[in-house]
Amino acid sequence: MPKVPDIRGEKEQQLNEQTLSMRLERVAAHVPAGARLADIGSDHGYLPVALMRRGTIAAAVAGEVALTPFRSAERTVRENGLDSQITVRLGNGLAAIEPQDRITAISICGMGGETIRDILDSGKAHLSGQERLILQPNGGEQPLRQWLMENNYCILCEELLRENRFDYEIIVAERAGPVIYSDEELYFGPLQMQARSPAFLGKWRRILRHKQQTLSQFARARQEVPEEKRQEIARQVRWISELLACE
Ligand SMILES: C[S@@+](CC[C@H](N)C(=O)[O-])C[C@H]1O[C@@H](n2cnc3c(N)ncnc32)[C@H](O)[C@@H]1O
Repeated sequence: MPKVPDIRGEKEQQLNEQTLSMRLERVAAHVPAGARLADIGSDHGYLPVALMRRGTIAAAVAGEVALTPFRSAERTVRENGLDSQITVRLGNGLAAIEPQDRITAISICGMGGETIRDILDSGKAHLSGQERLILQPNGGEQPLRQWLMENNYCILCEELLRENRFDYEIIVAERAGPVIYSDEELYFGPLQMQARSPAFLGKWRRILRHKQQTLSQFARARQEVPEEKRQEIARQVRWISELLACE
């Protein structure tokens, strides 16, 4: 079976617009039926093309900032005969969205949480506030949730799945007025903290082990580790230990 270079661990299986990774399959499940989707950082365009092939969405924009993935998305759309329903645009972040697209859902997946936050923040002018955001950060979930809170987005759903030895989070949010999350909720995810799924607990057990090792390395380090950094990791170890203590 040919191996395709893809994000993180997705090298084992031939993935395309017909066979999505489990990660993109779970993202797809949060796109409302009949949506007009903007998939930002679409790369090969698999997500919008798969959803359109299934008849789940009404229209889509596949946005890409880089030329090679932009061409790849164009090819996927063309080969599936979907040029009239999916527009592929070369553009930075939400600048790929135009008012006439009447977008109702935006997916931004497979990037760091800080990158997704920056895309949302610098593209605010392109948001009507009516869109559902379906975000799949690879790390950096805390700053992304912080941005959502500061911009009046309520987190409607959170998922965590493990695929090819990587943990992936999916955050679904809609603008709904002021919302306050505690520091721990921003760190762990407000809904994940309540649901305490096996995938969630497994992820935090692994992170706890790693952070405890880091703290012991700090203690043995010859060079001085900044006190602020040590305290931050010690605080995270305390939070995670408290979270797991309720098991
Ligand atoms: C790792 S791929 C993820 C592709 C797909 N979304 C997925 O989850 O499988 C990230 C893609 O985002 C694109 N990208 C990164 N920053 C972007 C930005 N500011 N605007 C649009 N696309 C961006 C990259 O060019 C790359 O193709």
